[in-house]
Amino acid sequence: MGYIVSILYIVAFAMFIYGLSGLTGPRTAVRGNYIASVGMLIAVVAVLIDVRDTDNWILIVAGLAVGVVLGVPPALCTKMTSMPQLVALFNGVGGGTVALIAWAEFLNSDGFTAVQTVPSAPFIVGSLFAAIIGSVSFWGSLVAFAKLQELLNKNLEKKVVASAKAFQLANIILAMVSIGLAVYIGVNADGDPQSPWLIVGLLVAAGVMGLFVVLPIGGADMPVVISLLNALTGLSAAAAGLALNNQAMIVAGMIVGASGSILTNLMAKAMNRSIPAIIFGSFGGGDADGGTAAASSGGTVKATSASDAAIQMAYANQIIVVPGYGLAVAQAQHAVKEMAALLEDNGVEVKYAIHPVAGRMPGHMNVLLAEADVEYDAMKEMDDINGEFSRTDVTVVIGANDVTNPAAREDSASPIYGMPILNVDQSKSVIVLKRSMSSGYAGIENPLFTADQTSMLFGDAKKMVSEITEELKAL
Ligand code: TAP
Repeated sequence: MGYIVSILYIVAFAMFIYGLSGLTGPRTAVRGNYIASVGMLIAVVAVLIDVRDTDNWILIVAGLAVGVVLGVPPALCTKMTSMPQLVALFNGVGGGTVALIAWAEFLNSDGFTAVQTVPSAPFIVGSLFAAIIGSVSFWGSLVAFAKLQELLNKNLEKKVVASAKAFQLANIILAMVSIGLAVYIGVNADGDPQSPWLIVGLLVAAGVMGLFVVLPIGGADMPVVISLLNALTGLSAAAAGLALNNQAMIVAGMIVGASGSILTNLMAKAMNRSIPAIIFGSFGGGDADGGTAAASSGGTVKATSASDAAIQMAYANQIIVVPGYGLAVAQAQHAVKEMAALLEDNGVEVKYAIHPVAGRMPGHMNVLLAEADVEYDAMKEMDDINGEFSRTDVTVVIGANDVTNPAAREDSASPIYGMPILNVDQSKSVIVLKRSMSSGYAGIENPLFTADQTSMLFGDAKKMVSEITEELKAL
């Protein structure tokens, strides 16, 4: 039977890797996801075959049932705009599971003193690493979820962000306590049974560290933090796999850890931030006061109508559409595609400028536009399109805000200073579709909205785009 389990594992690993390679492009992403999911199902079946002699079937089936009942409905019902919260929660559950496994192994072996069946060093080191990182990841992910879901009191959040230094000091102490306890447990593993409170102390210290690391991190950095927590969960699962001598956990954990680390790096680069600066800084803290420098630029807001916007667009040679989070909220992607098709029929070239952190999750805008059958070739990445704004007649910003904020380029006092943005302000004319003058995710004012070349078309993105389309048809 052992060789069947090994073969199933190898098939599962191949499917993880092949599925992951599908995620490199929007055309193959859905298929890639299905392939990797089937791989995971095969890995689960292999584990069940492997433990066939267990007398714990009721517990195993109950665990599977709880997972399905708690996991499937939110995955099916969660709106696209709330996906980052769901990812944070699912990720946290993974980290928490790994921490619980390590706890159970500690208790089962009287504090790792009764480890005879597997080489004890990888078991002990793997379990302790999994306990620390899993606990950090679980509690950190819960805070990330609460922040993204806006469950935290805004005033409290501002105070926490302002006391980032105190949290850093506490984290150094907590890291020393967790590592100190891990070393103590490891060193005494060949002696008398150890107190169960040692592992509780380690889990609590690491858990509080997870809370304290994520709490002071500013709003605009949250995408990178979620990705970092995801990578940590993968690494902790790989460590637990090492401890349990389970190849599936090692391989799946390493894949999540490696891909999560690469994504974290890419996102930090897109935000022009270093990982230590994110963890130890408080950039884009959602502090509305942070943007007063930009707000005090003092320009006036010019409102426009759908018919004026339609006339401007109909006579343009090239239009760049800049989608943002508001497009996702309004579900305006199909309306945008219809408007663009009409313009293209009249000889206007339409391109889409995609900022890497537009929306609320990596690839959010690509997924939405692909859903509306927008050609992949028309979606341009930030570096490819930024040079084109200065020779573009009309740029239409649809529910985007932070990713177009010139303060990131020009105002060193701005909390988002240094973040690369789409150079929309260099366009000859800009039409911004949003409902009001309120700020975006980073909580700061956007001087683009009061620039000379900008006019604001206030209203829900889908409604306003549809109105423009009707006006275009009537021209
Ligand atoms: P935001 O800066 O969040 O701005 C979105 C704008 O959409 C808001 O100003 C809002 O203004 C408008 N809006 C909301 N609902 C609308 C509707 N129904 N119709 C029209 N407009 C609507 O979005 P962005 O420019 O895409 O930037 C993304 C931000 O989220 C960045 O700060 C990024 O760091 C952060 N973030 C990104 C991610 C990832 S991975 N993408 C994850 C978490 C956080 P009104 O209320 O006035 O309409």
